[in-house]
Amino acid sequence: TQSTLLSIDNIQGDILVGMKKQKERFVFFHVNNAAEFKSVLKAYTPTNITSASTLVSPASDQPLAFVNIAFSHTGLSTLDINDNLGDSNFVSGQFAGASRLGDDTATWEPTFKGTDIHGVFLIGTDKDEYLETYTGDLKTLFGSSWSVSLTLDAAARPGAEAGHEHFGFLDGISNPAVVGFNNPLPGQTSVPPGIILTGNTGDRTNRPAWAKDGSFMVFRKLKQLVPEFNKWTLDNAIQNRAGNLTIQEGAEFLSARMIGRWKSGAPIDVAPEADDPALGADPNRNNNFDYAHPGSSLASDQTNCPFSAHLRKVNPRADQGNTNTVNHAIRAGTPYGPEVSDDEANSNSTQTDRGLAFVMYQSNIANGFRFQQVNWANTADFPAGKNVTPGIEPIIGQGSPRVASGLDPLDSTKTYTLPNFVVSNGGEYFFVPSISAITDKIAA
Ligand code: HEM
Repeated sequence: TQSTLLSIDNIQGDILVGMKKQKERFVFFHVNNAAEFKSVLKAYTPTNITSASTLVSPASDQPLAFVNIAFSHTGLSTLDINDNLGDSNFVSGQFAGASRLGDDTATWEPTFKGTDIHGVFLIGTDKDEYLETYTGDLKTLFGSSWSVSLTLDAAARPGAEAGHEHFGFLDGISNPAVVGFNNPLPGQTSVPPGIILTGNTGDRTNRPAWAKDGSFMVFRKLKQLVPEFNKWTLDNAIQNRAGNLTIQEGAEFLSARMIGRWKSGAPIDVAPEADDPALGADPNRNNNFDYAHPGSSLASDQTNCPFSAHLRKVNPRADQGNTNTVNHAIRAGTPYGPEVSDDEANSNSTQTDRGLAFVMYQSNIANGFRFQQVNWANTADFPAGKNVTPGIEPIIGQGSPRVASGLDPLDSTKTYTLPNFVVSNGGEYFFVPSISAITDKIAA
């Protein structure tokens, strides 16, 4: 389904395709000597920065590891690039807007507080050995021109959990298709390329010419309290209409209604009563729903899917008439941290840090990530026009108190006050330039 209407040789690969490797390392850095850093970067980029076309080429043509690079606003100005890229969130940085996102900055990692991070290398590969060689090469090449501020290692979960985030749900199913790059699967929204890529059709902001074929990357380190999540869903286990669920099944049912999909990926709008792994695994069916159900009351009640479910809040589909092509972004996050230990499971408390290295690409941070988080997930009366107040999104939504409705299918007016199961440890906003923008402008 790939076509070449976009400059896929010049667009960094993680944006449209995703590295989709077993391991992903984020190397956040600070530039100490701009001139030296630029001269190394200029030589490094053509052979090492991985394009979208490399990611869709046969494995035999691919390097041992994929490398992408992104810069923060302070990073670009340190490299003496002062053009206005047209994104005010990017300019202020994530920390400045943290409380508007609903973050408690007390839980932010010190490195993300402020604007000291100048950029980040993303390294994707299947082997630890290659991670080490590639990181070692960067350290040798960039020498004293930079310092590494923070390294975060993310990785697919082991065995059958591969592709699932730490709460257990299959991730990476629903991303928008991009006109000129891929054809939509059934139910998938198609967006103009300019919603994801700067300077492309559909991007309404004026950018400098060199910023074409870039994207803004939102990075967030989102800690997940998995044993606490499991305990809460057990304590609040719900029942189906037949009344025949065990506590464990009722907990699975509740968690599926919080996400909007079963752990297999099967959408609850299509499979409201029980998981359907064949549906979850089928790309031609697992995204083919829109909450509408013409001729039935299901669109305006919460029988199949709560209005507050993660999926429904961050992509309301028919709740907005299926007309929204603006507030979309491409997600490319990877889990970090180990599996839950027996100790943690038995004590219902997190002892080791784990979560999601959240990555999202869009041409406009206010329309993409920030809109989904602030205007939708954190906003109790969204989607509007329903018979009850949907409440805050129960996974990532912020508000005090965090009250969601609709989780119990037998009593959709019942409300739940939820503790936080996802804690922001901070992050940053970055610009991911095209490969030619790096060699001809940023490192020139
Ligand atoms: C979908 C989990 C954070 C936006 C999903 C899915 C899961 C999931 C399991 C379903 C898989 C799929 O459809 O691809 C999580 C977890 C998070 C998290 C555990 C935090 C630790 C976020 C954040 C945002 C977001 C912060 C944006 C503000 C989306 C979007 C979808 C999605 C847009 C696709 C919805 C659709 O098209 O129907 N997430 N997510 N997620 N998530 Fe998240």
